[in-house]
Amino acid sequence: MRQRLAVIGGDITQLDVDVIVNAANESLLGGGGVDGAIHRAAGPQLLAECRILGGCATGSAKLTAGHNLKAKWVVHAVGPVWHGGTKNEDALLAGCYTTALALARGKAARSIAFPAISTGVYRFPLERATRIAISTVLADLAANALPERVAFACFGAEALAVYNAVIEDLLRA
Ligand code: APR
Repeated sequence: MRQRLAVIGGDITQLDVDVIVNAANESLLGGGGVDGAIHRAAGPQLLAECRILGGCATGSAKLTAGHNLKAKWVVHAVGPVWHGGTKNEDALLAGCYTTALALARGKAARSIAFPAISTGVYRFPLERATRIAISTVLADLAANALPERVAFACFGAEALAVYNAVIEDLLRA
């Protein structure tokens, strides 16, 4: 199972994978952070396509084309804002990962890259979010042959260290 996971430092928009996942908001009309980076790299046609999607509920995700990105598709996942853990944040975050994987499978995608959804502007604690991300992905991969490979794109040394530590911890268990 470990060979199906990769932890990669750097900008998700540069990854040559079939699907990259965006950390979007419910409007799907762009923003800062990784949302801004993906829209800048994909070009204005991405926003044009997002406009007709009618938004997306927190804890879910919607798929668009990748436009000028190397990736064929973008899955726009809407993570929860952290409110202290009393507003079903863990389940909503897990829902982003399961929905994104199902959407990618629907396109027979073989590779997908995730950012650390909700851990920036939405202030979800990094280690807790990482445990949810990796355990959710591991459960999905155990039950499905596709996608073959899942990359976690870590933007900065802290996320890189936490993702590597949590993967080792969960795979040792
Ligand atoms: N590549 C990979 N990861 C990135 C990139 C990038 N180019 N830019 C930022 N990140 C990382 C951040 O460091 C953080 O770890 O993505 C993670 C998610 O942070 P945010 O982008 O702030 O997303 P989130 O916390 O889910 O907040 C979503 O922010 O940008 C707005 O429109 C977005 O309203 C939404 C909110």
